[in-house]
Amino acid sequence: MGAKNIAPKIFAASVLFKDGLQINNVPLINDIENMAGLLRHLGAKTERVGERSFKLKPVLSLGTDLADDIAKSFRASIVLSGPLLVKEGRVSFPHPGGCVIGERPIDVFLESFEKMGAKIAKEGEKYVITANKLRGAEIVFKIPSVTATETLLMTAVFVPGTTILHNAACEPEIVALAEFLDDSGAQITGAGTHTIVIRGVKSLRAKKPFQTPPDRIETGSLAILAGVCGKDIEITECQPEYLKVFLRTLRNTGVNIKETKTSLRIQAPEKLRAIDVKTHEYPGIPTDLQSPLAVLMTQAEGRSFIFETVFEGRLNWLNELVRMGANITICDPHRVFINGPTLLRGRELESPDLRAGLAFMIASLVARGESIVHNISNIDRGYEKIEDRLRAVGAEIKRI
Ligand code: EPU
Repeated sequence: MGAKNIAPKIFAASVLFKDGLQINNVPLINDIENMAGLLRHLGAKTERVGERSFKLKPVLSLGTDLADDIAKSFRASIVLSGPLLVKEGRVSFPHPGGCVIGERPIDVFLESFEKMGAKIAKEGEKYVITANKLRGAEIVFKIPSVTATETLLMTAVFVPGTTILHNAACEPEIVALAEFLDDSGAQITGAGTHTIVIRGVKSLRAKKPFQTPPDRIETGSLAILAGVCGKDIEITECQPEYLKVFLRTLRNTGVNIKETKTSLRIQAPEKLRAIDVKTHEYPGIPTDLQSPLAVLMTQAEGRSFIFETVFEGRLNWLNELVRMGANITICDPHRVFINGPTLLRGRELESPDLRAGLAFMIASLVARGESIVHNISNIDRGYEKIEDRLRAVGAEIKRI
């Protein structure tokens, strides 16, 4: 399916296009419904024009208050702040919500807006950001934040002068966004590296629809499922080139992987081997694949190790895996040892975030007996009709 961490950002970018734009291959997930809901609340028009295509048309002047309840429900809501600020001179929004994976501050966004000349106030629970005139600035991120890079990229597109983002994130999702903006008239260089230079332009015009690339995290998660219990599973319409370090690691467990430019064919080995994993910004092993990898480790022979370097609360879900029978030693909020193989037993589970939610599904398929996964709206945030696709490869699963 199209990538969950790109499509909503293109919806947000539509605000910058006077004539609107079309986006294809949109995953039909809750984060898209939410982003479309935010845009409609601001006065923009979103029209579904095909099974997975949407036309997005902003009006001359948009509202500037993000709908509280929607914005609070997903992290990507914050990427709308930049385009609205540069277009309308004002934006107000609550602290964005999203997965429960640790503290998710927005200081990098706020500092950067200030550097470009914006004023920031807090009114009750809301941030109110105003700017009569933004100016190009040299911004040094304290960490390479993905959504901050995307937001500032979209803000700087119309800001007079040159903006330089140092220590920018280089995920493929950022490159896809930058290339689309560039093709539409923006002047951006360096996307995909840690230094991005944006020269302000006056307008953007989409020359062609945005084609949402495949979701590399979904590909990786399904590859893990296949590596743990797949007889011979093929994942098609994917881009293995963006998963090089992950695939190298998966091969180290003994999983048999055949790779073409757009597909992966995977067979689980008789025995999986233990591995050490350190999550890292791109091109390292994505933090979003840490949870399914942990399930694989419960089935691997020997002692595996995870060092989660990106989020400090993203290992908390492992307590549930322990209750299923996993042998896990939690050293601190960032490091765990997992001893395997262990027999997992089906349980009732509560999905804390979308990636751990899918990991629970994989664990449930590996486990003896039946499991019930609750709170699946979290999983629907990022995976379209996952139960249908799992059923297609032999899983016994139903939505209740
Ligand atoms: N951070 C700050 N201050 C900020 C922003 C981030 O300290 O202002 C910290 C975060 O707390 C975290 C680190 O920086 O420790 C990196 O976070 P980042 O900002 O890069 O994450 P994000 O942009 O909020 C996106 C994806 C996540 C993915 C991360 C890392 C979207 C909507 N979300 O989040 O995706 O895990 O990058 O790759 O693009 C998911 O899909 O399940 C998911 C959580």
